[in-house]
Amino acid sequence: MNSMSSCKSTRLSGNIAVPGDKSISHRALIIGSLVTGKLKINNLLESEDVIATANALKTLGLKINKINNVWEIFGNGIGNLSGSNHHLDLGNSGTGSRLIMGLLAGSDVEATITGDASLSKRPMKRIIKPLLKTGAIFKDSNNDHLPITIKGSKIPLPIEYHSPVASAQIKSSILLAGLSSTGNTTVIEPSLSRDHTERMLKCFGANISSTKMSDHSWKITLEGLPDLKPFDIEIPSDPSSAAFPIVASLITPDSDIKVLNVCVNDLRMGLYQCLIEMGANISFSNRRQINGEPVADISASYSILNGITIPESRVASMIDEYPILSVAAIKAKGNTTMKGIEELRFKETDRISAMCEGLGLVGVNTIENKDSMVIVGKGPNCSLNGNLTIKSNLDHRIAMSFLCLGLITDNPIIVEDTDTINSSFPTFLQTMNKIGAKINQL
Ligand code: S3P
Repeated sequence: MNSMSSCKSTRLSGNIAVPGDKSISHRALIIGSLVTGKLKINNLLESEDVIATANALKTLGLKINKINNVWEIFGNGIGNLSGSNHHLDLGNSGTGSRLIMGLLAGSDVEATITGDASLSKRPMKRIIKPLLKTGAIFKDSNNDHLPITIKGSKIPLPIEYHSPVASAQIKSSILLAGLSSTGNTTVIEPSLSRDHTERMLKCFGANISSTKMSDHSWKITLEGLPDLKPFDIEIPSDPSSAAFPIVASLITPDSDIKVLNVCVNDLRMGLYQCLIEMGANISFSNRRQINGEPVADISASYSILNGITIPESRVASMIDEYPILSVAAIKAKGNTTMKGIEELRFKETDRISAMCEGLGLVGVNTIENKDSMVIVGKGPNCSLNGNLTIKSNLDHRIAMSFLCLGLITDNPIIVEDTDTINSSFPTFLQTMNKIGAKINQL
């Protein structure tokens, strides 16, 4: 088991790139496997989660190569997976496992999906329930956890599904199954979750629409059996990874950094919106579009922050960023209240408990409720002792959040079992060291 320690640092500075977006990387591989013909993917995130998805697709018979840093995938067309007894190990990846279940539901193929200890505890009925309606067969449809054996059908039924949560994984899984249907597939979600699947399918030629309903829910409708034409994909950098050096710079005095080429899709920008409301010096430049996704460079410098109340309506757009926002909230004047965040309990670990427990060890007061959390800010001049060890619990974002916090504590913070960082940000250590952060592999 590997650990890292992070020590008090002065002035983070410089221009950096963080790796490709995780959500878009999974989709590039999975949707790429459904086109007819060859496409190239540039800047694919080569993290354990994404490689697990690539390996699962290879096990299903897809030809995927990496040549001179560019990935090539030879798509088989829609609904053309076959065989039975495939074993797909998706490791730590919620996105990979859930999207691949949708992919399998749209072909006459049978496979068993497994995952690591963290993924095996995460809820899967949320995917099984809608996919059952498409005609997919599960070995045990009452099972909420991996391993799960699914048999799809060549022509799944087109469904209309009201999702109880705004989840891009649920939505995308259903849409992927719907690609093989002869009719329209509709997903209604309570608020709009990240729309990378919709944007990418549109770029490949699918007919897909999103409409805001009078009750503020969103209706996404996909026409089945589209003719998906291959085109080469460039993946922008991941705003969820950029969040770590950016928050580290906001809380470390005299810092000033720029993260290049970041995906700034509105549906991923909740953290940045909150930080700006808290008073952060954050600016966006060089705005442009890449493959239907908005992209910009993000600059951030040391800032005096104020606590805010984050409404439930922002949850979907910053679902992965609450742990690192909690670190920023420590240095704020006043309380930061996060509402409607129960979904955090179903991530790689229960992130509400993990943050409250870890922050308690640092001497920060928190209030934990079933679906909310309050961080009692200690103000910009607070001193924090550190000198403690945090377990990652196989959660990459918990590990990186506490390593960023260690940059401002008087004594080091050690995070145990940091290999999990490789699931989303394998170059975290080098990137943070490049801007001057004192983080070491132990
Ligand atoms: C993801 C969606 C989010 C997010 C996850 C990536 C995706 O999950 O937490 O890290 O790529 O679709 P939910 O939409 O299920 O909350």
